[in-house]
Amino acid sequence: MRTQIAVVGAGPAGLLLAHLLRLEGLDAVVLETRQREHVLSRIRAGVLEPGTVDVLREAGLGARLDRAGLEHQGFSLRFDGAEHRIALTELTGKSITVYGQQEVVRDLLDAAEPEPWFGVSDVVLHEVTTDRPSVTFTDADGIARTLHCEVIAGCDGFHGVSRNAVPVTCCERAFPYSWLGILAKTPPAHHELIYAHHERGFALHSMRSPELTRLYLQVAPDERLDDWPEDRIWEELVLRLGTACEPGPLVEKGITSMRAFVAEPMRHGRLFLAGDAAHIVPPTGAKGLNLAVADVALLSKALTSLLLHGRDGNALSYSDVRLRAAWRAERFSTEMTEMLHRSADPFEQRLSLARLRRVASSTAAATALAQDYVGSSEGA
Ligand code: FAD
Ligand code: DHB
Repeated sequence: MRTQIAVVGAGPAGLLLAHLLRLEGLDAVVLETRQREHVLSRIRAGVLEPGTVDVLREAGLGARLDRAGLEHQGFSLRFDGAEHRIALTELTGKSITVYGQQEVVRDLLDAAEPEPWFGVSDVVLHEVTTDRPSVTFTDADGIARTLHCEVIAGCDGFHGVSRNAVPVTCCERAFPYSWLGILAKTPPAHHELIYAHHERGFALHSMRSPELTRLYLQVAPDERLDDWPEDRIWEELVLRLGTACEPGPLVEKGITSMRAFVAEPMRHGRLFLAGDAAHIVPPTGAKGLNLAVADVALLSKALTSLLLHGRDGNALSYSDVRLRAAWRAERFSTEMTEMLHRSADPFEQRLSLARLRRVASSTAAATALAQDYVGSSEGA
């Protein structure tokens, strides 16, 4: 088999990259280890920056997003028993859109022509520093195959194999917190997101639609789902959010550890890394998906210049440009995480409150936070 770009991974990064490349007239084949149903059912992020919405609309993927996406002009911080609204639109002129990652993936799969190769295994990358790299894999029917290509895009997430083919330096930080997340069939308790700092721990109120609420609780890294029967989750949410939540049937329940990770560089020869394969951020601040979309928006331009016009400028600068963006997101997500979570350390506890009080009382501090949140603080 032959293609121009072999895309490893059918998460949002890989699917969007293949879509953008095909719009430019390039040929891309996507390989994915999981089944289609699994990819479609993974519940993850939910906040889209305006820049992400622009990329999706310009790629012809805006129809359902414009119908079902919820535009939000602000969110609340709750601490010290009071609420402080961060008026995003007033402070920045921009708004965010609440639209689930699984909906973005559904839109991308609906548009995917041809479909990714789902259920593949034994994915191995070869000759990535030459002009003729290839990927070997076993397809869903057990047949061994070789995909010859001109470029490989490693979009296979944090646990993928692509990163292993790059001589990377990794910077990593584990946070002493995990998030227990639920998606519940119940109307949101408030019309906007609430980030709550409480002495019992952080809680986040978000949503997916007028009927679906997404909620998160800070839990200790060693806690298991069995420790959290549904009644306990709802009781804890009400205590921490300071808002009555109407319990509803759970569509999903999971625990995610919190980690920051950056692999440098994001390019090795003809292999380019994008999305979680190259970097992950702690989820506070909702940057992971937005970062992945911005990576592939630039990568699609770089590969179009390289493969259609023989110009390698954008391909050469891709790693530097996107690593700067990754570190901007790490900085913001780390600050949000440290400000909002309840540390066991009394010094950190007081620092969190001092940070929150500053944002609530200083327009300059609130504006800086709002700009980071909507993704407009610094250039691309
Ligand atoms: P992924 O979505 O991880 O996609 C990678 C794909 O590659 C997967 O489909 C995987 O099956 C496939 N793959 C893996 N190995 C191989 C292989 N060897 N060969 C072929 N395919 C392979 N971000 C937020 O902003 N807010 C959140 O609330 C939030 N919650 C999250 C919860 C969880 C459990 C996780 C894991 C992440 C969460 N994130 C969140 C982060 C956000 O979802 C990611 O940043 C986003 O999914 C990145 O997209 P991606 O396409 O780079 O990677
Ligand atoms: C959501 C996730 C986040 O990490 C965040 O900061 C805000 C919202 C969500 O899943 O809706």
